[in-house]
Order: sequence, then C-alpha cells, then structure tokens
Amino acid sequence: MSTSSSVQPLFAPFTAGPLHLKNRIVMAPMTRGFSPEGVPGPDVAAYYRRRAENSVGLIVTEGTVIDHPEASNQPSVPHFHGEAALAGWARVVEDVHAAGGKIVPQIWHMGTHGDVNHFTQEDINGLIQRFAEAAAAAQRIGFDGIELHGAHGYLIDQFLWEQTNARTDAYGGSMLARTRFAAEVVAACREAVGPDFPIILRLSQWKSSDYTAKLAPTPELLGEFLAPLTEAGVDLFHCSTRRFWEPEFEGSSLNFAGWVKKLTGKPTITVGSVGLDSEFTRLFAEGQGAEREGIDRLLERLEQGEFDLVAVGRALLQDPAWAAKVREGRTDELQPFGAEALQTLH
Ligand SMILES: Cc1cc2nc3c(=O)[nH]c(=O)nc-3n(C[C@H](O)[C@H](O)[C@H](O)COP(=O)(O)O)c2cc1C
Repeated sequence: MSTSSSVQPLFAPFTAGPLHLKNRIVMAPMTRGFSPEGVPGPDVAAYYRRRAENSVGLIVTEGTVIDHPEASNQPSVPHFHGEAALAGWARVVEDVHAAGGKIVPQIWHMGTHGDVNHFTQEDINGLIQRFAEAAAAAQRIGFDGIELHGAHGYLIDQFLWEQTNARTDAYGGSMLARTRFAAEVVAACREAVGPDFPIILRLSQWKSSDYTAKLAPTPELLGEFLAPLTEAGVDLFHCSTRRFWEPEFEGSSLNFAGWVKKLTGKPTITVGSVGLDSEFTRLFAEGQGAEREGIDRLLERLEQGEFDLVAVGRALLQDPAWAAKVREGRTDELQPFGAEALQTLH
C-alpha cells in the first residue's frame, strides 16, 4: 500500500555514513526476558521479524549482556557471548534481513553493584575488552551495527553519573573524567569493528532510580560531556527521554535529541511516548493541536531536523504492525498498549 502523505517524513529514507535505512522508525530496545539461559530462540527471531516485515526501519534489540560475571542478574535476559546465544542471534539477524529489515543489538552490562567505585583498573580493562568482543561478534554474525547501552543507570551510565561514581582516579572526580569509561568503551569497539560499522550510543539524563536526574544541567555542560564520546567514534546518539515533546533546558523547545544533535553535529534518535496516547490517533485523523503532542508535532520536529530518527517502544511491543498501519493511514486499527502485552512475545 502507498504511504499516507501526511506521515511521509517518517518514511523518508535515512543515511548516515555506512548506515542506510528505508525509513525513520526505530524499534526501541525492550527487555523481554524470553531467552532461557540467555539463548534467544526462534520465537525471539520471529518476534523481531514481524516488526521488520511491518515497516520498521531499524530494530534495536532488547539489552543483551556482555561476557562478564556481573553483567546480568536475570537468567532469561539474552547473552551476547557463547556459542549457543550467538547462534540464536545469528538466526534473528537472518530472519530480520530476510524480511528486508535492519537490526543492531543493544550491548548491555547491568552494573549490578549500584556504583562503580570498587572496580580496579584491571577490572575496567577487562570490561572494556568484553564490550569490544561483543562488538566484534555483532559484526561477525551480520548485525548492521551496535548500540551501546549507556543510559538508565546501568554500568556505563554509572560511570557517567556523579551519584554512582565517586572515584578519585582518572575515571571520576570531574564530568570529563566520568566520561572516560564510556569513551574508552566506544573507542575499543570502534577499534574492533573498523570505521564502517555503525556505533550508536544510548544516553539518558534520567535514571531508573531517579527520573529527575540530570547528567548535564546546562547545554554548555552537555556539550563538554558529549565531546569525548563523539571523538571516540559514536556515529549516532540515541537520546532516551520518557516524553519526546519535553524541552531539555529552559529557554528553548529543543528536546534532548535536539540538543545532542545541535551540540555534536551527529544524527540523533528521539524516543518517549510516541503513539501511546489515545490523542495520537485522534490528532492523526483531525490534524489538530493539543496539550499533549501527537503525530503532528512529531512530524514537524522531524521535518525541521531537530532529530533524525524516531524510536517507538511500547506501541511496537503491543502491535507488530504499528509502523505499517501508520504508514498506510490505518490508524483505526492501531492497538493501544496494555501491560498484558508484556506477558507474550507477539
Ligand atoms: C518492557 C520494556 C523494556 C525495556 N527495556 C529496555 C532495555 O533493555 N534497554 C533500554 O535502553 N531501554 C529499555 N526500555 C525503554 C525503552 O527503550 C523506551 O525508551 C521507553 O519504553 C520509552 O519509549 P515508549 O514510550 O515508546 O515506550 C524498556 C521499556 C519497556 C517498556
């Protein structure tokens, strides 16, 4: 079916260096816990394939953990190491590619101690090495790039945030020093995969333990904070917010993805409550403004170049055909997100 003209900007192709996508819709990474003993099976492959078949431009997998004893505390979260898990992921890649989709794994370490103060230099070197090995494995088994999970209070973010990093060595003490671990992880991954394999870094100001946290309280500090990460080799920043329409700093309507793009010159992905409100459908139909921002303002911001890609989480978890329905104007068929969707891998 043809693309409904009103949503055309969401379905325009996108290129950034080696990354070529057929449209702007990204499936946000969502932990599902359906990989017994860390091995994603054919049901996981079919779950991602359904989204690829239905017009999602880029899939970011659920967080999948590096080869480190403390990387995960949940047995059904997929591993990104070991023969069985990597064979499972190779099957996922094959299925998504067969459906014409693109997919990157979200490489994760949960940072189970709650802070990063106890790690020795040797631990740090080992962790960096494990991230690089995961990046190399992703490339080897045919993924289209990687996303590093540097958000939401997990390991990489624990180094970034002053509340969880009280180190007094080169990895802590100042904002710049707190970026060092993330920058070294990015650089090691870059070294492992070469210049033409996309590296996405997901960041958030907010933490699972504190929705109001700010890594960088001003645009100036955010710029300083992002510079070493860009320098280390990030191709694209995935800017995690809970509501895409919220301004990041006073005095400008730019959201987090807007600021990161402006400050780094790199393309960005926005995310947060796209397609969740019932207003979404109504606005779509009537083309009206409202207090909560619907599709109109999303499209406007996208067209203005505030950000480049739009990640969709819960709406796509609920409805594998969400993107296709939006593209074809079948908005009366969109299924609203309900928590029961978490129980199955549909
Ligand atoms: C069930 C569930 C699991 C999630 N797991 C992850 C994850 O593994 N990694 C991550 O970076 N974000 C994770 N998130 C956050 C989403 O990627 C996304 O940023 C968030 O849901 C907001 O987007 P939405 O409003 O479109 O759902 C998860 C969200 C949900 C609902």
